[in-house]
Amino acid sequence: MENIDSQQLYCKQYDLQIDVSGMRLDSSNMDVDYKYEKIPRDGLRYLKSSKYEIPKTIHTYRVSEEDSKKVIDQLPQEVLNLEIPFVQYLEITPRDIDQTQTFPAHIDPHRHCSLNIYLEANGEQTHFFEKQGLELVEMARFTAAKEQVWVLNTSKLHSVTINTKKTRKVVTLSFSRITYQELVQVLDTQPQKIINV
Ligand SMILES: [Fe+2]
Repeated sequence: MENIDSQQLYCKQYDLQIDVSGMRLDSSNMDVDYKYEKIPRDGLRYLKSSKYEIPKTIHTYRVSEEDSKKVIDQLPQEVLNLEIPFVQYLEITPRDIDQTQTFPAHIDPHRHCSLNIYLEANGEQTHFFEKQGLELVEMARFTAAKEQVWVLNTSKLHSVTINTKKTRKVVTLSFSRITYQELVQVLDTQPQKIINV
């Protein structure tokens, strides 16, 4: 594993409090945007062991315009000057088994980076990799806790490892124009933004 500075090329936590309490995030009443049903090609190619289980479902759901606006309005204006992100709700539901489950390494196809607000997290680990020949070398990892905000470089290979039977719930903001470096550069200059609720 690399040191903390290089870790920040892949993921970074921010002390940004974004109130999502008023959003309607009941997935049984939301339209599915995308179902991650296939194992990512990169993940298949680079997964060292075939003895793994993938989670039961990984779905993103459409968030209403009104709820998207509630989130976007809480972002620093300097971020919005660069790009207004696309807001989705993500749920990862594990299988009802005791075995570790992994969503294998992949690069997100439609975005460069994401800002994730974790609503329910139970020790899942996100790992980042670089290719070295045919091998994947782990460069960074993090374990998000409930209510934390993390920015992820989703243009880098990453996987999620799950050791729980509980559903992981995330409000995920996608940036497809600006890069991870551009986003963290702006967020790094921001004073802590606290929303009192
Ligand atoms: Fe991803």
